[in-house]
Amino acid sequence: MNTQEILDLFDKYVIGNYGRTPVAIVRGEGSTIWDADGKRYLDFFPGWGCSLLGHCHPHIVEAIREQAGMLLHMDNTFYIEPQGKLAEWIATRGFGGKSFFCNSGAEAIEAAIKLARKATPEGRYKIVTMEKSFHGRTFGAMSATAQAKTRAGFAPLLAGFEHVPFGDIDAVKNVVDDETAGILLEPIQGEGGVNVPPDGYLSALRELCDDRGMLLLFDEVQTGCGRTGKWFGHQHDDVVPDIMALAKAVGGGTSLGAICAKPEVADHLTPGSHASTYGGNPLVTAAGVAMFEIIERDNLLARATEIEQYVFGKVEQLKSRFSFIESSRGRGVMIGIQLSIDGTGIVGEALKRGLRVNCTQQTVLRMLPAMTITNEQIDEGFQILADAMSEATKTAEAGTS
Ligand SMILES: Cc1ncc(COP(=O)(O)O)c(C=O)c1O
Repeated sequence: MNTQEILDLFDKYVIGNYGRTPVAIVRGEGSTIWDADGKRYLDFFPGWGCSLLGHCHPHIVEAIREQAGMLLHMDNTFYIEPQGKLAEWIATRGFGGKSFFCNSGAEAIEAAIKLARKATPEGRYKIVTMEKSFHGRTFGAMSATAQAKTRAGFAPLLAGFEHVPFGDIDAVKNVVDDETAGILLEPIQGEGGVNVPPDGYLSALRELCDDRGMLLLFDEVQTGCGRTGKWFGHQHDDVVPDIMALAKAVGGGTSLGAICAKPEVADHLTPGSHASTYGGNPLVTAAGVAMFEIIERDNLLARATEIEQYVFGKVEQLKSRFSFIESSRGRGVMIGIQLSIDGTGIVGEALKRGLRVNCTQQTVLRMLPAMTITNEQIDEGFQILADAMSEATKTAEAGTS
């Protein structure tokens, strides 16, 4: 089918809840994707962060092929080796603990909220979350998300969520009380603009939780599994959560979510208290194991930090040409470029020229490139980005004159 035929199918049969770009993608390899008309794009935002090793990494594809031929799905009535192995990878590269598997980030957050309520004494049900957070679209995750655009039209939401500014420890202290079960946040905010917390903030939250009998919950859906140059985002600050939520990369590009919790917390999810029929099935957990293997085998944590530095250098070069670039921030392959102008026009121009990037909060260009991206691909992408910036600003100037 060509692009138009695929678009027509969507027009007729698929609900229009996404602001889709009129491009139909049919193939991917590493940091490259091709559309139905054969056009090639560099992908600096593969799968919204799900494809951490790029598209169709051969080791992951092989693991999926092998697993699919042996046992495609098996429910959680029985034990399955890949799920146990993936839980071991998460525990041994993280803070120990035990995992529960589901299918998405929002479901992982739901599980984390349920566990926080269940593992704290009766009467504790409130959760403090951060302004500009994003935790997903189900009712619990949406209630945790402090962005009006995500919540609009769906009231009443789940009770018990208090939202405070990210990075402000006093604001958290002011809202917690004896009914607070926990504090939930992303160690680096993604959708909120790639916001890195101030030094000492995560450890101050840890201390507050310990003092007040609350749990610390990290949403590592975007920061997890090596993206930031450490296995998990919280390891930069040496702060251990009680519960960590994972999704996106954890399934190696297949749909998988998880929570990992300290054993004494995890044990509150007793049989019958929570479940997911597809959660942690053999196919997706085999893909997740393959992904962890490659990150370790190819020393990609160190490479993520190299990419970070290389990209920051590229942004500095662009800054000297474009005065609307204010700063860059992020860690590893999670990078935000702060602009003083709306970035959506730049994203559109870049795509026309064969580069996919994202814009969040209107003024932050966001990149979640694969850990396998090469410096040559970064060079090519930034050349396209520079051209797109020139064109977008020309167009904007023409529009205002
Ligand atoms: C930090 C964070 N948490 C949760 C989610 C929700 O994940 P999903 O879309 O898999 O439900 C996202 C998705 O972007 C996310 O970035």
